Amino acid sequence: MGSQLLLSEHKVRFASRLASLCPGDLNKVVLCASGADACAGAIKLAKGATSRNDVITMNKAYHGHEGYSLSANGKDYYKELFLPLMPGFHVVDFNDLEAVRRLASKDIAAVILEPVQGEGGIHVATKEYLTGLRKLCDEHGIMLIFDEVQTGFGRTGTLWAMEHYGIVPDIMFTAKSISGGLYPNGAVVYREIEPLVGYVEKNPLFHTSHSGGSDLGCIVSDAVLDYIVGNRLWENAAQVGRRFKEGLEQIARENEDCVKEVRGLGLMIGIEYKYEFIGALMADCLARQGVWAVYSGNAPQVMRFQIPITANADEVDELLRRIRAAVKVMRWYLLALLPLAKIPPIRMILDNIHVQIIAFNIVRDIEELVLRFLPRKEG
Ligand SMILES: Cc1ncc(COP(=O)(O)O)c(C=O)c1O
Repeated sequence: MGSQLLLSEHKVRFASRLASLCPGDLNKVVLCASGADACAGAIKLAKGATSRNDVITMNKAYHGHEGYSLSANGKDYYKELFLPLMPGFHVVDFNDLEAVRRLASKDIAAVILEPVQGEGGIHVATKEYLTGLRKLCDEHGIMLIFDEVQTGFGRTGTLWAMEHYGIVPDIMFTAKSISGGLYPNGAVVYREIEPLVGYVEKNPLFHTSHSGGSDLGCIVSDAVLDYIVGNRLWENAAQVGRRFKEGLEQIARENEDCVKEVRGLGLMIGIEYKYEFIGALMADCLARQGVWAVYSGNAPQVMRFQIPITANADEVDELLRRIRAAVKVMRWYLLALLPLAKIPPIRMILDNIHVQIIAFNIVRDIEELVLRFLPRKEG
Protein backbone atom coordinates (compact mmCIF):
# COMPACT_ATOMS: atom_id res chain seq x y z
CA MET A 1 0.00 0.00 0.00
CA GLY A 2 1.37 3.38 -1.01
CA SER A 3 0.00 5.50 1.83
CA GLN A 4 2.47 8.07 3.08
CA LEU A 5 1.23 7.37 6.59
CA LEU A 6 2.85 3.95 6.39
CA LEU A 7 6.54 4.72 6.30
CA SER A 8 8.96 2.01 5.32
CA GLU A 9 12.69 1.54 5.64
CA HIS A 10 13.12 2.28 1.92
CA LYS A 11 11.04 5.48 1.92
CA VAL A 12 12.83 6.83 4.98
CA ARG A 13 16.31 5.94 3.75
CA PHE A 14 15.80 7.59 0.38
CA ALA A 15 14.01 10.68 1.73
CA SER A 16 16.72 11.28 4.37
CA ARG A 17 19.46 10.87 1.80
CA LEU A 18 17.75 13.23 -0.65
CA ALA A 19 17.33 15.82 2.12
CA SER A 20 21.00 15.51 3.06
CA LEU A 21 21.98 16.29 -0.55
CA CYS A 22 19.85 19.43 -0.87
CA PRO A 23 21.40 22.86 -0.33
CA GLY A 24 20.76 25.03 2.73
CA ASP A 25 17.89 24.11 5.01
CA LEU A 26 15.84 22.31 2.33
CA ASN A 27 15.37 19.20 4.42
CA LYS A 28 11.73 18.07 4.54
CA VAL A 29 10.63 15.63 1.85
CA VAL A 30 7.24 14.62 0.42
CA LEU A 31 7.58 11.75 -2.02
CA CYS A 32 5.53 11.86 -5.24
CA ALA A 33 4.86 9.82 -8.35
CA SER A 34 6.22 12.04 -11.16
CA GLY A 35 7.34 15.56 -12.05
CA ALA A 36 3.81 16.82 -12.67
CA ASP A 37 2.65 15.21 -9.43
CA ALA A 38 5.53 16.83 -7.52
CA CYS A 39 4.68 20.19 -9.12
CA ALA A 40 1.09 19.87 -7.86
CA GLY A 41 2.42 18.94 -4.42
CA ALA A 42 4.70 22.00 -4.34
CA ILE A 43 1.94 24.41 -5.41
CA LYS A 44 -0.58 22.89 -2.99
CA LEU A 45 1.93 23.14 -0.17
CA ALA A 46 2.51 26.84 -0.93
CA LYS A 47 -1.21 27.63 -1.31
CA GLY A 48 -2.24 25.61 1.74
CA ALA A 49 0.47 26.94 4.05
CA THR A 50 0.11 30.62 3.03
CA SER A 51 -3.72 30.52 2.68
CA ARG A 52 -3.24 32.51 -0.53
CA ASN A 53 -4.58 31.61 -3.96
CA ASP A 54 -2.48 33.09 -6.75
CA VAL A 55 0.70 31.86 -8.37
CA ILE A 56 3.19 33.65 -10.64
CA THR A 57 4.61 31.46 -13.38
CA MET A 58 6.89 32.05 -16.37
CA ASN A 59 6.28 32.47 -20.07
CA LYS A 60 7.37 29.26 -21.91
CA ALA A 61 7.63 27.35 -18.61
CA TYR A 62 6.98 23.62 -18.58
CA HIS A 63 5.93 21.87 -15.41
CA GLY A 64 3.83 18.93 -16.58
CA HIS A 65 0.55 18.01 -18.14
CA GLU A 66 -2.02 17.74 -15.44
CA GLY A 67 -4.03 20.00 -13.12
CA TYR A 68 -1.79 22.47 -11.36
CA SER A 69 1.26 21.74 -13.48
CA LEU A 70 -0.68 22.30 -16.72
CA SER A 71 -2.04 25.56 -15.31
CA ALA A 72 1.52 26.63 -14.45
CA ASN A 73 2.78 26.01 -18.00
CA GLY A 74 3.72 29.07 -20.00
CA LYS A 75 2.38 27.99 -23.36
CA ASP A 76 -1.29 28.31 -24.33
CA TYR A 77 -1.02 25.51 -26.88
CA TYR A 78 -0.97 22.85 -24.12
CA LYS A 79 -3.78 24.47 -22.16
CA GLU A 80 -6.34 25.55 -24.77
CA LEU A 81 -8.06 22.17 -25.09
CA PHE A 82 -8.90 22.00 -21.41
CA LEU A 83 -10.09 25.43 -20.38
CA PRO A 84 -10.98 26.51 -17.77
CA LEU A 85 -7.93 25.38 -15.82
CA MET A 86 -6.94 26.27 -12.25
CA PRO A 87 -7.64 29.95 -11.49
CA GLY A 88 -5.10 32.50 -10.26
CA PHE A 89 -2.06 31.75 -12.44
CA HIS A 90 -0.26 34.86 -13.76
CA VAL A 91 2.29 34.41 -16.55
CA VAL A 92 5.27 36.81 -16.75
CA ASP A 93 8.45 36.82 -18.85
CA PHE A 94 11.40 34.78 -17.61
CA ASN A 95 14.32 36.84 -16.25
CA ASP A 96 12.04 39.91 -15.91
CA LEU A 97 12.18 40.86 -12.22
CA GLU A 98 10.11 44.02 -12.67
CA ALA A 99 7.18 41.97 -14.03
CA VAL A 100 7.15 39.88 -10.82
CA ARG A 101 7.54 43.02 -8.70
CA ARG A 102 4.43 44.53 -10.31
CA LEU A 103 2.34 41.49 -9.30
CA ALA A 104 3.89 40.77 -5.90
CA SER A 105 1.28 41.16 -3.16
CA LYS A 106 -0.36 39.40 -0.22
CA ASP A 107 -2.52 37.45 -2.73
CA ILE A 108 0.43 35.60 -4.22
CA ALA A 109 1.20 32.22 -2.67
CA ALA A 110 4.17 31.32 -4.86
CA VAL A 111 6.50 32.19 -7.70
CA ILE A 112 7.40 29.04 -9.62
CA LEU A 113 10.20 28.65 -12.14
CA GLU A 114 12.87 26.40 -13.60
CA PRO A 115 16.39 27.81 -12.90
CA VAL A 116 17.15 26.80 -16.49
CA GLN A 117 14.06 26.54 -18.68
CA GLY A 118 14.24 23.25 -20.57
CA GLU A 119 11.16 22.87 -22.72
CA GLY A 120 11.07 26.66 -23.08
CA GLY A 121 14.31 26.59 -25.11
CA ILE A 122 17.25 26.41 -22.64
CA HIS A 123 16.98 29.82 -21.04
CA VAL A 124 19.37 30.25 -18.12
CA ALA A 125 18.21 32.45 -15.23
CA THR A 126 20.59 35.29 -14.42
CA LYS A 127 22.10 35.58 -10.95
CA GLU A 128 20.60 39.07 -10.49
CA TYR A 129 17.16 37.69 -11.36
CA LEU A 130 17.18 34.84 -8.84
CA THR A 131 18.77 37.05 -6.16
CA GLY A 132 16.07 39.66 -6.82
CA LEU A 133 13.31 37.04 -6.74
CA ARG A 134 14.57 35.67 -3.43
CA LYS A 135 14.50 39.17 -1.90
CA LEU A 136 11.08 40.00 -3.35
CA CYS A 137 9.55 36.75 -2.09
CA ASP A 138 10.98 37.34 1.39
CA GLU A 139 9.52 40.85 1.47
CA HIS A 140 6.01 39.68 0.53
CA GLY A 141 5.88 36.29 2.29
CA ILE A 142 5.70 34.54 -1.11
CA MET A 143 7.00 30.98 -1.42
CA LEU A 144 9.79 30.71 -4.00
CA ILE A 145 9.49 27.36 -5.82
CA PHE A 146 12.21 25.91 -8.06
CA ASP A 147 11.38 23.16 -10.52
CA GLU A 148 14.52 20.99 -10.66
CA VAL A 149 12.82 18.16 -12.58
CA GLN A 150 15.04 18.60 -15.63
CA THR A 151 17.99 20.41 -14.05
CA GLY A 152 18.40 18.21 -10.96
CA PHE A 153 20.84 15.38 -10.26
CA GLY A 154 23.87 16.77 -11.99
CA ARG A 155 22.66 17.79 -15.43
CA THR A 156 23.85 21.40 -15.29
CA GLY A 157 27.29 20.65 -13.84
CA THR A 158 26.30 20.91 -10.18
CA LEU A 159 24.04 18.46 -8.33
CA TRP A 160 21.26 21.09 -8.41
CA ALA A 161 21.05 24.05 -10.77
CA MET A 162 20.34 26.35 -7.81
CA GLU A 163 23.93 25.78 -6.64
CA HIS A 164 25.21 27.90 -9.54
CA TYR A 165 23.42 30.84 -7.95
CA GLY A 166 23.79 30.19 -4.23
CA ILE A 167 20.03 30.76 -3.91
CA VAL A 168 17.86 28.42 -1.84
CA PRO A 169 14.13 28.38 -2.66
CA ASP A 170 11.48 27.68 -0.02
CA ILE A 171 10.23 24.67 -1.95
CA MET A 172 11.80 22.69 -4.75
CA PHE A 173 10.56 19.65 -6.59
CA THR A 174 12.32 17.09 -8.71
CA ALA A 175 11.72 13.85 -10.65
CA LYS A 176 13.09 12.38 -13.93
CA SER A 177 16.74 11.57 -13.13
CA ILE A 178 15.70 10.89 -9.53
CA SER A 179 15.49 7.28 -10.68
CA GLY A 180 17.80 7.43 -13.69
CA GLY A 181 14.78 7.51 -15.99
CA LEU A 182 14.13 3.88 -15.03
CA TYR A 183 11.21 4.04 -12.65
CA PRO A 184 8.56 6.68 -11.84
CA ASN A 185 9.38 8.73 -8.77
CA GLY A 186 9.40 12.35 -7.67
CA ALA A 187 9.81 14.53 -4.61
CA VAL A 188 8.98 17.88 -3.08
CA VAL A 189 11.65 19.20 -0.72
CA TYR A 190 10.94 22.24 1.45
CA ARG A 191 12.38 24.36 4.22
CA GLU A 192 11.12 24.22 7.78
CA ILE A 193 10.26 27.89 7.91
CA GLU A 194 7.05 29.82 8.57
CA PRO A 195 4.44 29.27 7.20
CA LEU A 196 5.57 25.84 5.93
CA VAL A 197 6.63 24.46 9.29
CA GLY A 198 4.12 21.96 10.65
CA TYR A 199 1.79 22.20 7.62
CA VAL A 200 2.45 18.67 6.33
CA GLU A 201 2.36 17.19 9.81
CA LYS A 202 -1.07 18.82 10.37
CA ASN A 203 -2.29 17.78 6.91
CA PRO A 204 -0.48 14.51 6.22
CA LEU A 205 -2.80 13.60 3.37
CA PHE A 206 -2.49 16.97 1.60
CA HIS A 207 -0.82 15.27 -1.35
CA THR A 208 -0.96 11.52 -1.09
CA SER A 209 -1.21 8.89 -3.80
CA HIS A 210 -0.81 5.15 -4.04
CA SER A 211 2.37 5.25 -6.13
CA GLY A 212 3.98 8.42 -4.75
CA GLY A 213 7.30 7.33 -3.27
CA SER A 214 6.66 3.64 -3.82
CA ASP A 215 9.13 1.33 -2.09
CA LEU A 216 10.48 0.06 -5.38
CA GLY A 217 10.85 3.65 -6.64
CA CYS A 218 12.81 4.55 -3.52
CA ILE A 219 15.08 1.50 -3.88
CA VAL A 220 15.80 2.44 -7.52
CA SER A 221 16.38 6.09 -6.60
CA ASP A 222 18.72 5.14 -3.78
CA ALA A 223 20.80 3.02 -6.17
CA VAL A 224 20.82 5.85 -8.72
CA LEU A 225 22.06 8.26 -6.04
CA ASP A 226 24.81 5.76 -5.12
CA TYR A 227 25.99 5.98 -8.72
CA ILE A 228 25.57 9.73 -9.22
CA VAL A 229 27.15 10.71 -5.91
CA GLY A 230 29.77 7.91 -5.92
CA ASN A 231 31.01 9.02 -9.35
CA ARG A 232 30.41 12.75 -8.83
CA LEU A 233 28.65 12.74 -12.20
CA TRP A 234 27.92 16.47 -12.06
CA GLU A 235 31.66 17.07 -12.47
CA ASN A 236 31.61 14.97 -15.62
CA ALA A 237 28.59 16.94 -16.86
CA ALA A 238 30.51 20.18 -16.32
CA GLN A 239 33.69 18.95 -18.02
CA VAL A 240 32.12 17.11 -20.96
CA GLY A 241 29.50 19.85 -21.27
CA ARG A 242 32.28 22.43 -21.82
CA ARG A 243 33.79 20.34 -24.61
CA PHE A 244 30.40 19.79 -26.24
CA LYS A 245 29.41 23.45 -25.99
CA GLU A 246 32.71 24.58 -27.51
CA GLY A 247 32.19 22.14 -30.40
CA LEU A 248 28.65 23.42 -30.96
CA GLU A 249 29.85 27.02 -30.81
CA GLN A 250 32.39 26.24 -33.53
CA ILE A 251 29.61 24.72 -35.69
CA ALA A 252 27.50 27.83 -34.98
CA ARG A 253 30.32 30.13 -36.14
CA GLU A 254 30.55 28.17 -39.39
CA ASN A 255 26.79 28.53 -39.93
CA GLU A 256 26.09 32.07 -38.83
CA ASP A 257 23.38 32.51 -41.46
CA CYS A 258 21.11 30.01 -39.70
CA VAL A 259 22.31 29.71 -36.06
CA LYS A 260 21.51 32.50 -33.64
CA GLU A 261 23.06 31.26 -30.40
CA VAL A 262 24.38 28.28 -28.41
CA ARG A 263 23.58 28.45 -24.70
CA GLY A 264 23.22 26.32 -21.60
CA LEU A 265 24.83 25.00 -18.46
CA GLY A 266 26.72 21.70 -18.12
CA LEU A 267 25.03 19.10 -20.29
CA MET A 268 21.84 21.10 -20.72
CA ILE A 269 22.62 22.82 -23.99
CA GLY A 270 20.46 24.36 -26.70
CA ILE A 271 21.10 25.70 -30.19
CA GLU A 272 18.77 28.46 -31.26
CA TYR A 273 18.28 28.70 -35.02
CA LYS A 274 17.33 31.90 -36.80
CA TYR A 275 14.19 30.27 -38.24
CA GLU A 276 11.68 28.03 -36.50
CA PHE A 277 11.40 25.48 -39.34
CA ILE A 278 15.12 24.64 -39.05
CA GLY A 279 14.35 22.83 -35.76
CA ALA A 280 12.27 20.17 -37.51
CA LEU A 281 14.60 19.98 -40.52
CA MET A 282 17.67 19.54 -38.33
CA ALA A 283 15.92 16.88 -36.21
CA ASP A 284 15.29 14.91 -39.41
CA CYS A 285 18.87 15.34 -40.69
CA LEU A 286 20.25 14.30 -37.28
CA ALA A 287 18.00 11.22 -37.13
CA ARG A 288 19.53 10.10 -40.42
CA GLN A 289 22.93 10.26 -38.70
CA GLY A 290 21.61 8.11 -35.84
CA VAL A 291 21.20 11.06 -33.49
CA TRP A 292 17.82 11.53 -31.83
CA ALA A 293 17.43 15.14 -30.78
CA VAL A 294 14.24 17.06 -30.13
CA TYR A 295 13.53 20.71 -30.52
CA SER A 296 11.94 22.41 -27.55
CA GLY A 297 8.17 21.94 -27.31
CA ASN A 298 7.69 25.55 -26.22
CA ALA A 299 10.30 26.99 -28.62
CA PRO A 300 10.64 24.98 -31.87
CA GLN A 301 13.58 27.12 -33.04
CA VAL A 302 15.71 25.73 -30.19
CA MET A 303 17.19 22.25 -30.39
CA ARG A 304 17.92 20.69 -27.03
CA PHE A 305 20.96 18.51 -26.47
CA GLN A 306 20.70 16.74 -23.13
CA ILE A 307 22.93 13.72 -23.58
CA PRO A 308 23.52 11.32 -20.68
CA ILE A 309 25.69 12.86 -17.97
CA THR A 310 27.75 9.66 -18.06
CA ALA A 311 28.99 10.53 -21.59
CA ASN A 312 32.76 10.69 -22.13
CA ALA A 313 34.91 12.91 -24.34
CA ASP A 314 35.11 10.34 -27.18
CA GLU A 315 31.32 10.05 -27.30
CA VAL A 316 30.97 13.82 -27.43
CA ASP A 317 33.50 14.02 -30.29
CA GLU A 318 31.60 11.32 -32.21
CA LEU A 319 28.35 13.19 -31.61
CA LEU A 320 29.90 16.44 -32.86
CA ARG A 321 31.12 14.59 -35.97
CA ARG A 322 27.57 13.38 -36.68
CA ILE A 323 26.08 16.82 -36.03
CA ARG A 324 28.53 18.26 -38.60
CA ALA A 325 27.49 15.57 -41.10
CA ALA A 326 23.80 16.41 -40.47
CA VAL A 327 24.45 20.14 -40.93
CA LYS A 328 26.19 19.41 -44.25
CA VAL A 329 23.06 17.65 -45.57
CA MET A 330 20.78 20.32 -44.12
CA ARG A 331 22.68 23.04 -45.99
CA TRP A 332 21.47 21.55 -49.30
CA TYR A 333 17.86 22.07 -48.25
CA LEU A 334 18.70 25.53 -46.93
CA LEU A 335 20.03 26.59 -50.33
CA ALA A 336 16.42 26.71 -51.47
CA LEU A 337 14.69 27.41 -48.15
CA LEU A 338 16.71 30.30 -46.68
CA PRO A 339 15.93 32.79 -49.50
CA LEU A 340 12.24 31.76 -49.34
CA ALA A 341 12.17 32.16 -45.53
CA LYS A 342 13.03 35.84 -45.94
CA ILE A 343 9.50 36.38 -47.33
CA PRO A 344 7.23 36.57 -44.21
CA PRO A 345 4.12 34.71 -45.55
CA ILE A 346 6.30 31.87 -46.90
CA ARG A 347 8.18 31.75 -43.61
CA MET A 348 4.84 31.30 -41.78
CA ILE A 349 4.02 28.35 -44.02
CA LEU A 350 7.47 26.79 -43.47
CA ASP A 351 7.10 27.16 -39.68
CA ASN A 352 3.74 25.39 -39.68
CA ILE A 353 4.08 21.92 -38.17
CA HIS A 354 1.38 20.42 -40.44
CA VAL A 355 3.17 21.71 -43.54
CA GLN A 356 6.42 20.24 -42.18
CA ILE A 357 4.83 16.81 -41.70
CA ILE A 358 3.45 16.83 -45.26
CA ALA A 359 6.84 17.94 -46.64
CA PHE A 360 8.74 15.22 -44.76
CA ASN A 361 6.27 12.59 -45.99
CA ILE A 362 6.70 13.73 -49.60
CA VAL A 363 10.51 13.58 -49.27
CA ARG A 364 10.23 10.08 -47.76
CA ASP A 365 7.94 8.90 -50.60
CA ILE A 366 10.36 10.24 -53.21
CA GLU A 367 13.26 8.51 -51.48
CA GLU A 368 11.39 5.20 -51.41
CA LEU A 369 10.56 5.54 -55.09
CA VAL A 370 14.18 6.29 -56.00
CA LEU A 371 15.41 3.37 -53.89
CA ARG A 372 12.96 1.02 -55.63
CA PHE A 373 14.47 1.81 -59.02
CA LEU A 374 18.09 1.80 -57.92
CA PRO A 375 19.98 -1.37 -58.90
CA ARG A 376 20.17 -3.67 -55.86
CA LYS A 377 23.53 -5.03 -54.75
CA GLU A 378 23.75 -8.83 -54.77
CA GLY A 379 23.59 -10.38 -51.29
C1 LIG B 1 11.01 21.10 -15.96
C2 LIG B 1 9.98 20.01 -15.91
N1 LIG B 1 9.05 20.02 -14.95
C3 LIG B 1 8.11 19.08 -14.86
C4 LIG B 1 8.07 18.04 -15.77
C5 LIG B 1 7.00 17.00 -15.68
O1 LIG B 1 7.56 15.78 -15.27
P1 LIG B 1 6.79 14.42 -15.60
O2 LIG B 1 6.91 14.20 -17.06
O3 LIG B 1 7.51 13.40 -14.76
O4 LIG B 1 5.37 14.61 -15.16
C6 LIG B 1 9.01 17.99 -16.79
C7 LIG B 1 8.96 16.92 -17.79
O5 LIG B 1 9.50 16.99 -18.87
C8 LIG B 1 10.00 19.00 -16.87
O6 LIG B 1 10.91 19.01 -17.83
